[in-house]
Amino acid sequence: MKLFLDTANIQEVREAAALGAICGITTNPSLAAKENIGDLESYKSSILILTQLIDGPISVEVTAAEASRMVQQGEEIATWHPNVVVKIPSTMDGFKAMAVLCRQGIPVNQTLCFSINQALLGAEVGVRYVSPFVGRMDDEGQDGMQVVREMVQVFRLHGIKTNVLAASLRHPMHVVEAAKAGADVATIPFKVLLQMTHHPLTDVGMARFTKDWQQAAKP
Ligand code: E4P
Repeated sequence: MKLFLDTANIQEVREAAALGAICGITTNPSLAAKENIGDLESYKSSILILTQLIDGPISVEVTAAEASRMVQQGEEIATWHPNVVVKIPSTMDGFKAMAVLCRQGIPVNQTLCFSINQALLGAEVGVRYVSPFVGRMDDEGQDGMQVVREMVQVFRLHGIKTNVLAASLRHPMHVVEAAKAGADVATIPFKVLLQMTHHPLTDVGMARFTKDWQQAAKP
């Protein structure tokens, strides 16, 4: 399972890149707004900086809600950089836009996906990634990870090539469960990446090694 970082924050991407384990980025309008990005021009400038830090797929979401505007924005976004993947929501208009963009060979990440039915519609037109939002399903009392498991199972059963990208992951156990479910990618917030590095026994072990070494070195 590949790991992507779910952020539009340049400093977070810079620090994550140093770890080497992150090979892609996902953004969305809320993450962009958190970085004071409020128009496509500044979205583009930030994305171009991110492309220099991580050499892998970078999802950029359209902000329009109507199909023809989504297509226009998607076509424009796709010209920014060869690594850009256009993120389109799983709405009726979104499915129409996905069909047009996929026909043009533009890579699409189907976002805001909450069901196998929505995922099947995107897969049929050839989206590259489908993003089930695990945490948001959990918030509604639905087992989000079960949707990821079933999506992986259905895609394998039918030889569907679309990558299952587990999104809206909130804690390290979500990452473990996504890996066990067979997700192709997990996109994680920076906080979860930091949590993944940590285990208290590693800290205890390091403190003991350091102390023992220093004692042995005493005259
Ligand atoms: C994924 O592509 C989304 O940007 C993200 O994972 C949404 O996460 P949230 O539900 O924590 O906002």
